[in-house]
Amino acid sequence: MALTSAVQGFAKLSLEEKINILSEFSDLNEDDLNLLKKYRELPDFLELENNIGPFKIATNFLVNGKDYFVPMELEEPSVVAAASRIAKLVRAEGGFKGEYLDSKMIGQLQLLDVKNICSEGTMHRSEDECIEEVKEKLLEKKEEILKIANESNKIIFELGGGARDIELREIETERGKNLVLHLIVDTLDAMGANVINTMLEAITPIVTDITGGRYCLRIISNFADKRIVSVTAKIKVENLAIGNYSGEKVANGILDAYALAKTDIYRASTHNKGCMNGIGAVVLATGNDWRAIEAGVHSYAARTKYTSITELSVENGFLVGKIEIPMAIASIGGATNSKKARLAMKILRVKNAKELGVVVASVGLANNLGALSALGSEGIQKGHMRMHEEFIKLGK
Ligand code: MEV
Repeated sequence: MALTSAVQGFAKLSLEEKINILSEFSDLNEDDLNLLKKYRELPDFLELENNIGPFKIATNFLVNGKDYFVPMELEEPSVVAAASRIAKLVRAEGGFKGEYLDSKMIGQLQLLDVKNICSEGTMHRSEDECIEEVKEKLLEKKEEILKIANESNKIIFELGGGARDIELREIETERGKNLVLHLIVDTLDAMGANVINTMLEAITPIVTDITGGRYCLRIISNFADKRIVSVTAKIKVENLAIGNYSGEKVANGILDAYALAKTDIYRASTHNKGCMNGIGAVVLATGNDWRAIEAGVHSYAARTKYTSITELSVENGFLVGKIEIPMAIASIGGATNSKKARLAMKILRVKNAKELGVVVASVGLANNLGALSALGSEGIQKGHMRMHEEFIKLGK
């Protein structure tokens, strides 16, 4: 059997048939199948929208030329159906294309009272002069600071990652000026919180020695704007047709809805929630920190003024979509080591965190296009309520 996630009528197959297909696709073994079964034995299991146990399965995903069945952990079956429907249309044009623009995380070390301490016994006249001197001193000692950070986590350093740089930011707060040191770290396949927080604590003595400053918090920033994934996709406009709505009408509806999301925060929030429906579900299935990713996405959306995290246009007969978001996702460490998460990774057949991040963003883009194509045509309630009613019926 060819290894494809584009199985005609997958949703209508029996549970056993679906599991057989997945087993072959992802080389599942007896332990994997037993784990799925245990989840199906839980009292609330419903055989709805490709639910195979802990996850529902989205089909048709072709990302950077590779096929994926995507495990999604969420309560709303219409989200899975919408992702699969759009993935099928995108697949016809070669699939999703994505990459990480950069993959570093940021940790923050907060330095306070730099003026007071710096001024002790010196001739500084202004706070600005003092902070400039402290910044120069820190930059002079950069290599030493990075070395100490990397010594605190030899494994990541030896694997080719580690602390790469420092950046210094002056922030005026209601309690005075802060000098904030950003430690820039390549955390490879880890999400990075533990690595970075340990590094920040390890460099605190040298940093406070250099600056003479008092420190407060030392913690990762979830505004991961140096770990950005970008994914694009296109769909032939005529293929967007839904019911009595022509492809052109649906495309126009999508553009109108997108235009509102670009300018109106009330709409942008819901527009982005539609992307997070898919993103959060895969992040959760793979044992990742969905709150960190959610925080990153929304803060990135608000980096100038809160707006849409997708960009949509119609070009030469194609609806073209792009999503660009921080994606601090891991393929190792923490709850990604749980049995359930390992099984999700096995079903996905992803090799590392970057590959996973590109798939996750593709699902987010698919869900955005799915929601807007329904909202811009027959409305969201028809499909959503049909599944909801099925859900209620099965739950009885
Ligand atoms: C509902 O879960 C998600 C939507 O509200 C997204 C959107 O409005 O774009 C349908």
